[in-house]
Amino acid sequence: MSDINTLKTELTNAIEAANDLKALDDVRVSALGKKGAVTALMKTLGGMSPEERQEQGPLLNALKDEIAALISAQETALKKQELDQRLSSETIDITLTARPEQAGKIHPLSQTIDELISIFGAMGFSVAEGPDIEDDWHNFTALNFPPGHPAREMQDTFFLPEDESETDPERAKKLLRTHTSSVQIRHMEEGEPPFKTICFGRTYRSDWDMTHTPMFHQMECLYIDKNVTMAHLKGCLTDFVRAFFKIDDLPVQFRPSFFPFVEPGAEVDIGYYKQGEGIKLGKAPEGQEQKWMEILGAGMVHSNVLKNCGIDPEQYQGFAFGCGIERITMLKYGIPDLRTFFESDTRWLDHYGFSPLNRPNSATGQ
Ligand code: DAH
Repeated sequence: MSDINTLKTELTNAIEAANDLKALDDVRVSALGKKGAVTALMKTLGGMSPEERQEQGPLLNALKDEIAALISAQETALKKQELDQRLSSETIDITLTARPEQAGKIHPLSQTIDELISIFGAMGFSVAEGPDIEDDWHNFTALNFPPGHPAREMQDTFFLPEDESETDPERAKKLLRTHTSSVQIRHMEEGEPPFKTICFGRTYRSDWDMTHTPMFHQMECLYIDKNVTMAHLKGCLTDFVRAFFKIDDLPVQFRPSFFPFVEPGAEVDIGYYKQGEGIKLGKAPEGQEQKWMEILGAGMVHSNVLKNCGIDPEQYQGFAFGCGIERITMLKYGIPDLRTFFESDTRWLDHYGFSPLNRPNSATGQ
């Protein structure tokens, strides 16, 4: 009994004196290890008489448990002490620059499309879509370019093999759409007026130079309802270009022009003036020449187009316009060469692209 008490006092002191984990482990081995003092006492149980064992057994087991508990409590205390010490002595230098991560950029075309959706969305337009591979009917005939019409020559087209399963020759003839005006037809054929839609998409023509690529993007706008007039067209277009270029008094001019699917038809110009070597959009200052550049085609939808889509032109009328998206993007963001839009050069994208987290005036509402 006194052996037990002495050992207990000794071990308790040793545990309390252990001031690091290594020293504590040494105490543990010396007490509870294979050759430890407590283990040695436990072994003596075998040589005892049953009565002695009955008395000593619980005492020894209690000693073993108590010592184990003390060691574990001391271990927890030492670990905490160690952590506290590290927390107070170590500082993390959060001023160190993070390793740079390659961040993606929004392509200027996607940026412009989102800006346009935001502007037209606010005016109540919704977005329509149509296929890139069109048939002759939707791209030309229904838009009042009958076969052989000379205006077809204005758009140098990529034709595809005919679809032999089609019985109607105008629908059998397949081509890459030359403009998004074909989506007007699909939209009017499929639904009931009124229509108030915009459409964005790829268009294709056999062209290649600084300002023409075989594939480019257009936006198309269609508004058909009762009592829509040219005044609505002028108001809508003027608001759109001023909002897009963020110039409240941007001069806008309508010039009579011809497109088979509108009557009257117009080309729309915006004002600019010379500034140094370059140009600046906007109203020319006093004494400077006001210059004009064309940015889109527009007009009142031709009655033949409405009839081709099963709409009564006596009841409904409206306007349409179409605009090259690259062109207005180049003008707004000062991008000089159209071809670079499609070269997939990440240095170009890095320079002209937009940070996804900080986009001007986009549909994300920023
Ligand atoms: N589709 C014409 C083009 O690609 C542009 C255009 C002109 C669209 C007049 C229209 C419009 O909707 O009314 O050149």
